[in-house]
Amino acid sequence: PGPVVYEAEDAAITAGVVESNHTGFTGRGFVNYNNAVGSAVEWTVTAAKAGPATVELRYANGTTANRAMNVSVNGTVVSPALAFAGTGAWTNWQTKTITVNLVAGSNKIKAVATTANGGPNVDKVTVS
Ligand code: GCU
Repeated sequence: PGPVVYEAEDAAITAGVVESNHTGFTGRGFVNYNNAVGSAVEWTVTAAKAGPATVELRYANGTTANRAMNVSVNGTVVSPALAFAGTGAWTNWQTKTITVNLVAGSNKIKAVATTANGGPNVDKVTVS
């Protein structure tokens, strides 16, 4: 199957808000993580079969500080403190790609801020 897009604004948000004031997002907007450790977005993604999948996170970070996040799959951190470096402007969106193992059916992919700055602004994940 081809890539499937899961918008952040449709995911489960912990300590963050959906906004649309910085252009370049897809869908209705993006999630502005609260500036706090533990702010998070959790997507529910479906896999046709168990095995490796490519997860591309699209984000913007208009600061110069790395807004690292722990990325977990089904409750296990698989990418600790994944770097989300500055992108130059809040309107400049970039992607970060990781490979994860999914189970067949429903999976939870969660990106949790690890610094007091919170996460970057997150637009979506694309799973393929
Ligand atoms: C600014 C920006 C937000 C961003 C925030 C932050 O307020 O407009 O989109 O989320 O900084 O530092 O997290």
